[in-house]
Amino acid sequence: MRKNNVYIETYGCQMNVADSEVVMGILQNNGYAFTDQPDNADVILLNTCSIRDNAEQRIYGRLGNLKKYKDDHPGLVLGVLGCMAERLRKDLIEEKKVVDIVIGPDEYRRLPEFIDHAFAGEKGIGVKLSKTETYDDIIPYREDGLSAWISVMRGCDKFCTFCVVPFTRGRERSRSLSSIVDEIALLSKRGFREVSLLGQNVNSYYDEAGYDFADLLAAAAMVDRKIRIRFTTSHPQDLSDKLLYTIAGHPNLCNYIHLPVQSGSNRILELMNRTYTIEHYLDLIDRARNIIPGVSFSTDIISGFPTESLEDHLMTLDVMNKVRYDGAYMFKYSPREGTKAFRMEDDVDEETKTKRLQQIIDLQQRISAEINNALTGTTDIVLVEGFSKKSEQFMSGRTDTNKVVVFPAMDSISPGDYVRVKIIKSTSATLFGDNPEIVDKYQPSEKLTA
Ligand code: 5AD
Ligand code: SF4
Repeated sequence: MRKNNVYIETYGCQMNVADSEVVMGILQNNGYAFTDQPDNADVILLNTCSIRDNAEQRIYGRLGNLKKYKDDHPGLVLGVLGCMAERLRKDLIEEKKVVDIVIGPDEYRRLPEFIDHAFAGEKGIGVKLSKTETYDDIIPYREDGLSAWISVMRGCDKFCTFCVVPFTRGRERSRSLSSIVDEIALLSKRGFREVSLLGQNVNSYYDEAGYDFADLLAAAAMVDRKIRIRFTTSHPQDLSDKLLYTIAGHPNLCNYIHLPVQSGSNRILELMNRTYTIEHYLDLIDRARNIIPGVSFSTDIISGFPTESLEDHLMTLDVMNKVRYDGAYMFKYSPREGTKAFRMEDDVDEETKTKRLQQIIDLQQRISAEINNALTGTTDIVLVEGFSKKSEQFMSGRTDTNKVVVFPAMDSISPGDYVRVKIIKSTSATLFGDNPEIVDKYQPSEKLTA
């Protein structure tokens, strides 16, 4: 029997989740099948992340386990995909001899060939970055479901000084608008209800026909009004008014913008090469709030970047108080080899980084709880995902601003329905709703008039 069972484990961001589906699409076209049990696999692939040291350490740990497993299963092929490929290739193929295949984000088309060679005992390395590869023509492999991720652009040209992405994923390039619209149409036929458009910096989207990201969002929104569209990540430098008006103009474009600020100090932002000031950033938030009533924001924050003083840190807390984000992803600075910041001294000690990060987390939790609490008494539209984790008497779903809502289950309500619920109470993480009613027309902005 042909050895063709592949198990794939994905680490890191949603971009990697989308890439794993592209990889599976490529493998499926070449006769491979998939298993969710490593024990049944002939090929084990890890799709890896390099963004911070702790992500890499987890993967090194996992490879340590798999080395033992491989010793007991001699025919097994082990592959490393994704952002760690370039850095790992020497270490793992040449020195530690654990891995058979190392393949970077732009060479996935070669994977079937590499796997065939690996079964014949030959190791394979493909880590070249491409200026053009977008996997435009590959239909990703997806289980049926409600939510899908589509990567619309790859790479990043921003070169924030702390970030490895421009090195691990290479230059920016965009998929064609028409291929993305076709993919959404296929998802619509299969009953999907939510699509997230992904890119490291989606606002730089620009395809060969001259369409920008606002054009793409408008076209995506028109495919099926019952599919709501999310997108991430936006860079504050390129968020245009055209984009904001487009979001405001389509009910099924979510009123939710992930807009990483990273720091509240202009001095640190400059050292990070973020190319905006806090004044510009706050002005952008104001503009977005004026153009899209009810819009909510989330952000990324790094604590303890080189030279960050107490004063800089307080400025970050200050920005959080001014913007009042709905949510935040908060990290300790982690030096990454090859980046510009790696050459700066990592001079904020671990204890201070931890303390500052905790203050940032505590503040965000308080703000999230306050924002959620203020929603009591309003109504909102929820995309129903299924029964709640705790009980089949309740169902749960999300609002377009990405808040989890738990509400009483009813026989007439199924996953994939949109329901209007009245919010009756909340915690910092969850809203509780009552009186769910199915709605045909998806109009989340009606929460504003509640
Ligand atoms: N250290 C800590 N956080 C980082 N991020 C990116 N690089 C680093 C790093 N070296 C964070 C940024 C970015 C998010 C995806 O990860 O906040 O927006
Ligand atoms: Fe990294 Fe900055 Fe590009 Fe985001 S915009 S991927 S943080 S270099």
